[in-house]
Amino acid sequence: MRVIVTGGAGFIGSALVRHLVLEQSYDVLTIDALTYAGNLASLRAVEGRAHHRFLHADIRDGAAMKAAIHDFRPDRIMHLAAESHVDRSITGAADFIMTNVVGTFTLLEAARDYWNGLADEAKAAFRFLHVSTDEVYGSLDENPEALFREDTPYDPSSPYSASKAASDHLAKAWHRTYGMPIVVSNCSNNYGPYHFPEKLIPLTILNALAGRELPVYGAGENIRDWLYVEDHARALDLIVERGVPGETYNVGGRNERRNIDVVHRICQVLDRLLPADRPREELIRFVTDRPGHDARYAIDATRLENELGWRAREDFDSGIEKTVQWYLDNAWWWQPLRDGYGGERLGLLEKTA
Ligand SMILES: NC(=O)c1ccc[n+]([C@@H]2O[C@H](COP(=O)([O-])OP(=O)(O)OC[C@H]3O[C@@H](n4cnc5c(N)ncnc54)[C@H](O)[C@@H]3O)[C@@H](O)[C@H]2O)c1
Repeated sequence: MRVIVTGGAGFIGSALVRHLVLEQSYDVLTIDALTYAGNLASLRAVEGRAHHRFLHADIRDGAAMKAAIHDFRPDRIMHLAAESHVDRSITGAADFIMTNVVGTFTLLEAARDYWNGLADEAKAAFRFLHVSTDEVYGSLDENPEALFREDTPYDPSSPYSASKAASDHLAKAWHRTYGMPIVVSNCSNNYGPYHFPEKLIPLTILNALAGRELPVYGAGENIRDWLYVEDHARALDLIVERGVPGETYNVGGRNERRNIDVVHRICQVLDRLLPADRPREELIRFVTDRPGHDARYAIDATRLENELGWRAREDFDSGIEKTVQWYLDNAWWWQPLRDGYGGERLGLLEKTA
């Protein structure tokens, strides 16, 4: 099996590449532009493996994408490259439109050019997986019965989710118009090892370790449905293998938590694993809420569970324990990132929870 993974030096992409190379022994070409969020250190586990190649390229570069796809001759393309941080999309949406929308369009066209040239059997077997987020569905109220399903209407709130929604529509249109075998997945919030320390969970762990304030937006009441990243990687592998072209699969861990409860839990785990002078919960500070902050996300993963037989292996308590332990054991990975932020940009680490 020959697989191209775009965005494979990012958080979820690198978990997927590790899964495909180390667990499945597939031949993998990782394509990544190495933006601030891309990190070759996240691919150290597959470095030097005969099964893995890395290409430093931008998905907006049509000629480079065409050449890479024609040269590698993939059975599957798994598209994860994106600008992914909501706060950054609010202060600068342009990169989100260019990468998430124009980049996805460019990649789809390069893939279509290659796919058109395949023999009938290879053409039918080829798959393009477009990886997206549950944020395209907008926000839910607190009624526990209300969940995002595959047919929930799109209603994005932020420039990030609007750009992902646009890219989902492109992927689905390329299936309907050109018949390309494209599958879409929409996943809830991920957490786990190798997560860039601007997102809530790694930011809280690293700030708590350094004895810094732990910023929480608003009153911390926003609810997210947390999924351990390795469970997501297995789900993506299953969806591209067995998912029906033209269909969407929602991925979620059935682990809804309020942000404030996530931060408390991290403090408790850290206090147990590495006791400090005072409880780290005392570092929590509430900060002005993010504009357009969605109240609640929660995924109904019934289709993925019933039709494809997927189950999350980690619940939130086991996953967060593993995650905190990983950050304690792997300062070699996060220290250069945190220090690289230095001075003014370190302020970012204090504001973005
Ligand atoms: N993190 C989550 O909780 C979550 C949840 C659901 C879906 N997703 C989706 O999963 C995918 C991966 O998310 P992530 O959290 O790993 O993101 P990330 O920001 O950690 O990684 C994104 C990767 O894409 C690369 N990239 C960015 N622009 C590029 C370009 N123009 N060309 C080539 N490479 C480029 C970056 O260098 C980086 O390695 C995204 O599509 C995201 O929308 C994320």
